[in-house]
Amino acid sequence: MWRVLSVDQRIAEPSAQQSSVAMRREGFGALAYDYDNRRLTFQRPKRSATTPLVERLKRGLDAPICLTWELTYACNLSCVHCLSSSGRRDPNELTTTEAKAVIDELRALQVFYINIGGGEPMIRRDFFDIVSYSVDNGIGVKFSTNGTYLTSDAAARLTAMDYLDIQISIDGVDATTNDAVRGSGSYDTARRAMDHLAVAGFGPFKISVVVTRQNVDQLDEFKALADSYGAQLRVTRLRPSGRGADSWHELHPTNVQQHQIYRWLLAHSGPQSTNPVLTGDSFFHLNALGEPLPGLNMCGAGRVVCLIDPLGDVYACPFVIHDEFKAGSVRGPGGFAAVWRESELFRELREPQSAGACASCGSYDACQGGCMAAKFFTGLPLDGPDPECVHGDGELQLAGIGAGSAPRPAADHSRPVTFIKR
Ligand SMILES: C[S@@+](CC[C@H](N)C(=O)[O-])C[C@H]1O[C@@H](n2cnc3c(N)ncnc32)[C@H](O)[C@@H]1O
Ligand code: SF4
Ligand code: SF4
Repeated sequence: MWRVLSVDQRIAEPSAQQSSVAMRREGFGALAYDYDNRRLTFQRPKRSATTPLVERLKRGLDAPICLTWELTYACNLSCVHCLSSSGRRDPNELTTTEAKAVIDELRALQVFYINIGGGEPMIRRDFFDIVSYSVDNGIGVKFSTNGTYLTSDAAARLTAMDYLDIQISIDGVDATTNDAVRGSGSYDTARRAMDHLAVAGFGPFKISVVVTRQNVDQLDEFKALADSYGAQLRVTRLRPSGRGADSWHELHPTNVQQHQIYRWLLAHSGPQSTNPVLTGDSFFHLNALGEPLPGLNMCGAGRVVCLIDPLGDVYACPFVIHDEFKAGSVRGPGGFAAVWRESELFRELREPQSAGACASCGSYDACQGGCMAAKFFTGLPLDGPDPECVHGDGELQLAGIGAGSAPRPAADHSRPVTFIKR
């Protein structure tokens, strides 16, 4: 059992906490988030426990559990798979004052934590100001970085803060594999940032890896690297979003590798594992192979999570930055809360979805037809199989999609490529 603690109590006495659990009422009962072990618990009265929790969550929550917030489109790297096509800062990005007003709103909604990304979030001059403001207001922060600006001074500063998780991204266990995706020198930079966190005594940071055809055989080595730092490994499914739309066909794991990933995750992410691997619940399409992977196995877009982009536009999830999935703007009347509660798009996503071509598949309950973003940006219908369907149905459908006919990502902040004449 947890001690019930309101968000306001947490704010009033941050250092004298007996418990670091925040609780929020929801239509089905309550949600409790433990800031010490980062665990989310669902509490339901017995009478409503007859509906499976997943079905209840599909109808949406009063507020997101967490949300991704991309602070800027500026980035010093140009990764070939970048889901937000980052590079150049957009002149219309939220100001510090606007960002703090969003945090005030999230506090009022009792959002438990935010996942800060970008672009490279540490590039913003007000990065520490925004992070501190969030944490001081009782909203935990998890941020993802390529490590460039994570100096020894920054590591010491971050170590002094509470309710903060840091993810450092690498996409290969060696410079050759990693730099082919993230650019020359990026592996050494990321490792240096990890070393700074270790020296500063930050504790268990996370190493974040997007699983690709080229690094899938390195999963054991990624885990060993994380263990060597006392860190936690987090693996994510590659989506064909942003610049990933152009690189996905070469980078995404093959069907045989999907089986390999599933077996590896089953062995390393369950409660039986010491230091289990985290997945951000992104591999639920693999549940079609049998025993479900641990986690919330459903698409949470617009139901339990969403994205705020650097301009304050709200999208259903970080992987669908496209007008079709734009729900509104935090700059609009009623701010973020109005978008979450009233947007037409989010209402539709919370309605029962059609299984379409997947209806006759015996694995539908387990896999739910896979990821909306993966289907959308490969040009597949949303009510049909995922392009990486483990039974091969998506691959068959992909073969019928004409070159150049898949939707293009909305915003592109990539830096212009300079061609050198030889
Ligand atoms: C968009 S980045 C922003 C934060 C920071 N610049 C970084 O690289 O960590 C956040 C995370 O998304 C991952 N990512 C980028 N493109 C992706 C894609 N197409 N599919 C899945 N994850 C992706 C990155 O590797 C990184 O771990
Ligand atoms: S994924 Fe790469 S290009 Fe995209 S924001 Fe992160 S470091 Fe920059
Ligand atoms: S056919 Fe559809 S439901 Fe069945 S495994 Fe493939 S994506 Fe999942």
